[in-house]
Amino acid sequence: MSQPHINSSNDEWNKFAPSFMKLATDGPGVAPAQNMVKVAAEVFPFSSASAILDIGCGPGQVTAAALEAHGLELPETARVVALDLSPVMIQQVENRKKTEIENGATLWNKVEPMICNCTDLSAFPDNSVSHAFAAFVLFMVPQARVALDEIRRVLTNENGGGIVALSSWQGSEWMELIGFVTKVRPEKSAPKMPPTWATLEGIRGELEATGFRDIEVHTVEAFMPFNNYDEIARFILTQFPGMNKMTSDMSREELEKVRNLMVEFIKSRHPVAPGRLTGTAIVGVGRK
Ligand SMILES: C[S@@+](CC[C@H](N)C(=O)[O-])C[C@H]1O[C@@H](n2cnc3c(N)ncnc32)[C@H](O)[C@@H]1O
Repeated sequence: MSQPHINSSNDEWNKFAPSFMKLATDGPGVAPAQNMVKVAAEVFPFSSASAILDIGCGPGQVTAAALEAHGLELPETARVVALDLSPVMIQQVENRKKTEIENGATLWNKVEPMICNCTDLSAFPDNSVSHAFAAFVLFMVPQARVALDEIRRVLTNENGGGIVALSSWQGSEWMELIGFVTKVRPEKSAPKMPPTWATLEGIRGELEATGFRDIEVHTVEAFMPFNNYDEIARFILTQFPGMNKMTSDMSREELEKVRNLMVEFIKSRHPVAPGRLTGTAIVGVGRK
């Protein structure tokens, strides 16, 4: 049986959106987002930004990281666009924007949430974007090179060329845990990272193949905090995109078995709770 690609449908992201919001400020995307913003700023200062795109924004970790670190430097004319294919996710970003502003983070007034497929950035003219971020999204896009071509098209030629920063997973404990379904039902196939997107060389290759230059790739440690073992095991088993499809024909007993195995594994890796599951992200950057 062929390995399912990590290519969760829009429907699954729509369903996951409310749970994903809980991970918006301390979940696995936060440290990589901060790193992507930091390395992008070293190459292309945010004080010269024309437009910042947070592509496949999810709950907006990159948007938040960019505003926190560099929001005050942004030119008045600079746009900050948080775009995602999932309408429910974009609704969550709208809600987050409102809450952030109510809590005094007025820089969020700049944020434009937008429903948009990253393979079609026709909402943005050629050479109009200074910073394009694509955090943990391209590996699940069947036409990732079309998306990279689009990103390159919209990036500016000015100031030495606009910057793209993207991220992917080299590996993580939560991905390992997703695979635990096969310990109880060996005939099932757990989704795996496409090999190209799980290595530094693979990501460098994608950026090279789509014409980016000054490419740099590195790893960043990421974390998923948990309060107790049972809660995190249940969260992964029932909430993660793709899990429903994998477990829909499993009995209550089988699901219980998977959950117990997950708890055992997490305890063996993290003997103290609360704790943090760990993962390793790959960050790739390049210039137009
Ligand atoms: C793993 S989440 C990443 C979210 C966030 N960027 C982060 O760093 O955690 C992937 C996001 O990409 C979105 N997505 C999937 N395919 C997409 C596409 N073709 N265009 C735009 N967004 C897409 C999903 O709806 C989801 O919000």
